[in-house]
Amino acid sequence: MSKLDDREYLLVSDLDGTLLGDDESLERFATWYADQKRRLFLVYSSGRLHDSVIGSIEAFALPSPDAIISGVGTNIRLYPSGEVLSDWYEAIGENWDAKAIRALLADEKKLVLQPKTVQTSHKLSYFLYGASESDIARLDDKVRMAGFEASVVYSSARDLDFLPAGADKGSAAAFIARKWAIPRERVIVAGDSGNDLKMFEQDGFKGIAVANAHEELKALTEERIYHARGECAAGVLEGLKRWLSEG
Ligand code: GLC
Ligand code: MG
Repeated sequence: MSKLDDREYLLVSDLDGTLLGDDESLERFATWYADQKRRLFLVYSSGRLHDSVIGSIEAFALPSPDAIISGVGTNIRLYPSGEVLSDWYEAIGENWDAKAIRALLADEKKLVLQPKTVQTSHKLSYFLYGASESDIARLDDKVRMAGFEASVVYSSARDLDFLPAGADKGSAAAFIARKWAIPRERVIVAGDSGNDLKMFEQDGFKGIAVANAHEELKALTEERIYHARGECAAGVLEGLKRWLSEG
């Protein structure tokens, strides 16, 4: 499938702490988007799994997106059809085995496995409180030395995800942009925490860090990243006005 229609921009936004978190500003975002959707594709990208994202679309004023990236970039589905973009799996690393990596990490006393309901064959998630960069680098090395290729993503000083190499939120957003023929400089990404960092690191993408973002995003200084004064959806809206007015 190539470009769906004539929309020129793509917004890929995180949900928790970004579009979600303040109902009143989400209503304002939804009203604004209803008027803009002829020019803007909308994709939600969450660390949560697909069904949980669907639950949020039903429960909150979130507008209907064109696609959903879930599981920190490990799954991409069109909305509302639910069609899985299965060619995404061809683009992600093969040297990956969630069970074997879990066994390898079993002796790591500080790692607490997240609930079964958030684990998949492509996403192995733990809680690890207050880890330093070198703690993460050591775990990354340990997995690599054992012969696996994993993307290790640490968010909110708490969540630690192991994903197949190349399957993070950033490469998933880039995959959709390529598929829909949206040039990189017309891709706008919005987020608040570490698992969004990979989206901000994609060459050419415009970023929106909401005011309530964690340090991991606040530290970014590139010009193509806008640090909003508003929190949650109000910050996303503020950033969109900034990037869209630039044309
Ligand atoms: C969501 C997921 C969790 C993951 C976190 C950070 O909260 O449910 O499994 O660790 O996002 O990516
Ligand atoms: Mg978030």
